[in-house]
Formats: sequence, C-alpha cells, structure tokens
Amino acid sequence: MKILAIETSCDDTAIAVIQTKNGKKFKVLSNLVMTQDIHNQYGGVFPKMAKREHAKNILPLFKKALKQAKEYKKQNNNLTTEVEREPELTKNLNKFIQSIKKPDIDLITVTTGPGLELTLWVGINFAKAINEVWNIPIIPVNHMEGHIFSIFPKKKKFKIRKVKFPIISLLISGGHTELVLIEDWGKYKVIGKTKDDAVGEAFDKVARMLDLPYPGGPEISKLAQKTKSPNFKLPRPMIQIDNFDFSFSGLKTAVLYKLKEKNIKKDEMAKEFEDAVVEVLVHKTKKAIKKYNAKTLIVGGGVSANQKLQKELKKLNIEVHLPPKGLSTDNALMIALAGYFNQKNSHPLKADGNWKL
Ligand code: KG4
Ligand code: ZN
Repeated sequence: MKILAIETSCDDTAIAVIQTKNGKKFKVLSNLVMTQDIHNQYGGVFPKMAKREHAKNILPLFKKALKQAKEYKKQNNNLTTEVEREPELTKNLNKFIQSIKKPDIDLITVTTGPGLELTLWVGINFAKAINEVWNIPIIPVNHMEGHIFSIFPKKKKFKIRKVKFPIISLLISGGHTELVLIEDWGKYKVIGKTKDDAVGEAFDKVARMLDLPYPGGPEISKLAQKTKSPNFKLPRPMIQIDNFDFSFSGLKTAVLYKLKEKNIKKDEMAKEFEDAVVEVLVHKTKKAIKKYNAKTLIVGGGVSANQKLQKELKKLNIEVHLPPKGLSTDNALMIALAGYFNQKNSHPLKADGNWKL
C-alpha cells in the first residue's frame, strides 16, 4: 500500500509518499520539505504569514511528490473538489486534478495537532479535498507521535527495528519540550514538560540576544564549540526539583542580565547556555529512565540534532535512538509512519493546537 502524508503544523510545508507491503519493510518514494525562510528576519513564526505560505506551497509540493512517487499520470477528466476557505488553492487544485489519473494511494495521513491551528487547517482541508475527490481515507496524526517515529527511516528502504519497552522519549523542538513514557506503540504518557518556553525557543531567543540568525540552535552550537567553559555560571533550572518538568524562561532572563555585565564574551555565553540546557535535559532524562526502568531512549525534534546533547545522552546506560540527519526537524515522512501505525486513533479530523499525546 501507498501512504501520502501532509504536515503543516508550523512553518514547514511537508509532503511524503511511502510504500509498504506488510508493515515491516518500508520504502520512501518521496519526502519533501519546504521551509518558510520568510520568518527568519523576525526571529519567530507569524501564524497568518505561515498559513499563506502553506497555501502557496502545498500544491507544488504535492505535484512534485506524486511525480517522484511515479503516480503522476496524465488524463483529462472533469472531477472537482474544494479546499475549504482557500478559493485560489481550490482553483489550482481542480486544474491539476482534472489533468491526471487518480494516483494509487491507499491512505492519507495528516497532522492535526499540536501546532498552530491556522496552519494545521491548511493541511487538513487539503487532505479533505483529496479524500473527497478520490475517496481515499484520512487518518489524523499527532505531530509529537510523528517525532517519535522519526528514528526509523535510516535509508530509503528501511525496516521498523524492534525496540524494547518501556521507552522514554525526549521530544525537544521549537514548540515542545516533553518527556514521554511509552509502554507500547500507541500507549503514551507525558510524564514531564516545560512550564514556559520550549528548549528550541530558548535557543532561538538567546541566539537573538547574541545577534545570531534564526534558527538559533545550530548557531549557538557552532559558537560554543570555539571556546572553553567561562568563569561564570548560569542556573540549571528545575534540576533539583523532584519531577520531570522543565523551565527555560528564567535561564533566558539570566542570559539577558549577564550580557549587561562588562567583558562577557559571546562564545563563552553560547557555551555556558548550551551546557546548562544539556545538563538539565540529560539529568531529567536519566531520572526518568531510572524511575520507569526504561529499556530504550528515543530522542526527537529539532533540538535532538544538538551534538553536545547527543554525546551526553549516548553516555547513558541505555539503548539510544536518534533521528537520522534531516529527520530531526519537521517532516512528513514521520507523519506517514505514525499515521500508519496508529490508524485506530479516535481523534476527530480537525485542528487541535493542544492535542496531547
Ligand atoms: O522540530 P523543529 O524543526 O520545529 C518545531 O516543531 O519547533 O525544531 C526547530 C528548533 C529550533 O528552535 C532550532 O533552533 C532548534 O530546533 N535546533 C537546535 C539545533 N538544530 C535545530 N537546537 C540546538 N542545537 C541544534 N543543533
Ligand atoms: Zn516538530
């Protein structure tokens, strides 16, 4: 069977097509991401602007994905459909649909949350339009469950490796910071999360204070590598508190105040900030592994690409799975897999900005 996946939860428009015969072996036929650089100049994502960009990018990406999946076959017909609230996109989609044969796709998976509701709706309404015209079933997918599945596609052809339960998953991105206990696929429990800023958000905000471009995570890492630990210390927020929650907004403020002092070097600040974040993440993850007697650690989300964090997590006495290069940030391939393996989830087909695992 072939699965189409659509992801528009934040500022990346992503479409993927994958194929499987038995649910064990998979093949990536197409995996496309269009990042909205438009937000870089502002250092954050504006939902209205992001929505407009998704509506502009989604059809060209869909066409390209069908071509790559060899499912683009010319045939004139007079089918019509509608992308709700998107008249321009509807017009262009109809033109496209009327020029091709129904593609051989058995399932549509689409991210319905968590994320920005305004942008989620673009993907959902697009999926609904395709469902309507070609009668292909749709599965709503939780974006965070997607990040968990991003560890599997190591190559174009890949297998779902056996992993031992219980699993602890550390999901860290620009929008989320969570520790999740996974007792079996589909059985998730969020055991801790951030009380304020997400860890990626903190990286981005501190990067701005250091005049570094957006996204700030990789920039801070690069700068941090050039130096040794400074002779000042930033706090390690919540590290002494006996739970699995995080807080990064105080750390961000601590950086702001420290930078007002004389002779604070930017590279030293980058290094100390990264060290503080990594120390807290590793400490809480280690504690969760111990408490729940976890056999496997899965890390996902944009911040999981951080080299220092990867190095420290690999020192833990547990099997660690990280996403392959390119799949730590948002993509639709992970949505295809999460949707395929959780087809029975009972979530409604509507945007849910706060959908909890
Ligand atoms: O998962 P993602 O692409 O989008 C969200 O769902 O938010 O994550 C993006 C976040 C950004 O905040 C970015 O600064 C951070 O991931 N990031 C990193 C690194 N690469 C990306 N943070 C720290 N170190 C990195 N190497
Ligand atoms: Zn994400």
